[in-house]
Amino acid sequence: MNDLKHIAIIMDGNGRWAKKQGFFKRMVGHEEGAKRVRELTIHAQNIGLKYLTLYAFSTENWKRSEEEVSFLFKLMDRYLQKELKLFLDNDIRFETIGDLNSLPKYLQKRISDTKRQTKDFKGLTQVLAVNYGSQDEIVRAVNKAVKKGTEVTVDSFNNMLDSSDFDPVDLLIRTGGDVRISNFLLWQCAYAEMFFEDTLWPEFTVDMLDKILEKFQQRERRFGGVE
Ligand code: FPP
Repeated sequence: MNDLKHIAIIMDGNGRWAKKQGFFKRMVGHEEGAKRVRELTIHAQNIGLKYLTLYAFSTENWKRSEEEVSFLFKLMDRYLQKELKLFLDNDIRFETIGDLNSLPKYLQKRISDTKRQTKDFKGLTQVLAVNYGSQDEIVRAVNKAVKKGTEVTVDSFNNMLDSSDFDPVDLLIRTGGDVRISNFLLWQCAYAEMFFEDTLWPEFTVDMLDKILEKFQQRERRFGGVE
């Protein structure tokens, strides 16, 4: 049985899904995508997962229209306001990775309030990657190390990353058909098993996750060693 503590997901395909449904606005896809986040979070908690990290907004997503960027921030704010009860009722801790400083103040406040109210929970930790880019995270960690003026080790460097509290990623899933990592958790995925799915994120179901989990269990993880 492979150990499975941490699943990370690149939730791609919202815009294409909206277009496929005949909607003019890509935002409809994000709205539908947020519903899948809720379902997957409940399922992750039920199967005893420790960490579920979701790529909600990348450092590159600022290149999108102002309308889409501001919609995504408001959607995250609404999502957190609504899901607080789910977190409180189910022992779910909420965390983030990414540089929160350039987010709108209302969202920074919602994020810090949600973290504060869930910080002692011991079930699933849901980690949203917001204004997150792995290269940015690594550079911020390097600068911390430079400031300290001491040589780093793998462990001490790991402790300087946004994700220092979490175990490494066991399983990375990307929906939407593209086969790339897009600046997501480059360090943390060193030994992750990867699954690239054609399904668009708003159509990704709990059953699809379960099928991936079956395949994950059939993979032989050697972590650089031999059998
Ligand atoms: C990628 O699809 C998705 C995003 C950039 C945003 C992800 C956001 C959500 C799933 C919903 C909000 C999340 C929370 C936690 C409330 P895309 O827009 O690049 O799709 P496309 O490749 O089809 O254009």
